[in-house]
Amino acid sequence: MNEQTRIPVILDGDPGHDDAIAWTLAKASGRMDILAVTSVAGNQTIQKTTYNAQRICTLLGIDAPIAQGRPRPLIEPPMNAPSVHGESGLDGPPLPEPAMGLSELSACELMAKTLRESLTPVTIISTGPLTNTAALLLAHPELKEKIARISLMGGGIAYGNWTPAAEFNILVDPEAAKIVFRSGVPILMAGLDVTEQALILPEDFRRIAAIGNPVADIVAQWLEFFYIFHKNLGYDGAPMHDPCAVMALLHPEVFTMKPLYVQIETAGKYCRGATVGDLLGVTGHAPNATCILSVDRKRFADLLVDAMRFYGEGQK
Ligand code: RIB
Ligand code: CA
Repeated sequence: MNEQTRIPVILDGDPGHDDAIAWTLAKASGRMDILAVTSVAGNQTIQKTTYNAQRICTLLGIDAPIAQGRPRPLIEPPMNAPSVHGESGLDGPPLPEPAMGLSELSACELMAKTLRESLTPVTIISTGPLTNTAALLLAHPELKEKIARISLMGGGIAYGNWTPAAEFNILVDPEAAKIVFRSGVPILMAGLDVTEQALILPEDFRRIAAIGNPVADIVAQWLEFFYIFHKNLGYDGAPMHDPCAVMALLHPEVFTMKPLYVQIETAGKYCRGATVGDLLGVTGHAPNATCILSVDRKRFADLLVDAMRFYGEGQK
């Protein structure tokens, strides 16, 4: 995929500060045709993540149908992360009220309609729990071939962040993740192995704030807010979990990746939600995911900062 290839995408997430920045990057790339936006319960309730999705699309001028996802994971009760993203799920700078309504379709059915109508296979960029994508695969197996790949933020081969073994997105809905990782659809997995390296530092926030357009101003404030939680944990910057799932499609050259066979633990007292990567190939199974393992942080940060200039050229 060269620099000029256009990428038709569905944005599926639980905004969420880093989801919002990921969507800002996708729009700014000028290479992604955003065909649909779907909300999922995760960082906050489905009502809040849906409202946030509408506000972000209004801010960015994303002209695509928005559909509300399932209110809860496939099996277990919902989990939220107010400690990270606040009560609204997107605390911090004021945002415009939604300029658009919601699709009458569910997230699953809007995804299916989008795949059905697209002339070429579509990339699903999933930055929250995989509930909607699993529902799509269960309800519409006939559309699997219309999914080019699933670029997802989730999991961690080496460790978790919500439990020692499990990353939040996978832990919220491990059954959904198991369905996705067993589907045979090509997966690009941005797990904690790389996203914890993809730090945006305060000096980078300041570079974004200095750009001087309304979207860059808000992104700088989202970063400041997102950094509060992480600074208290000793981070030097804000880990750009979700933007990695977008950046890896646009600039794979700044990452290192490795095909791996990944299994999702859905049982276990200590390890439910773990993404178990077969690093030594001991299972004999062929890889089912391309796992991103490292990133050139400075190049990543420069690309993210530069992308925010897009919104200053009247390109909304
Ligand atoms: O573990 C990080 C993930 O959980 C990110 O997608 C963040 O938005 C939260 O959903
Ligand atoms: Ca997210």
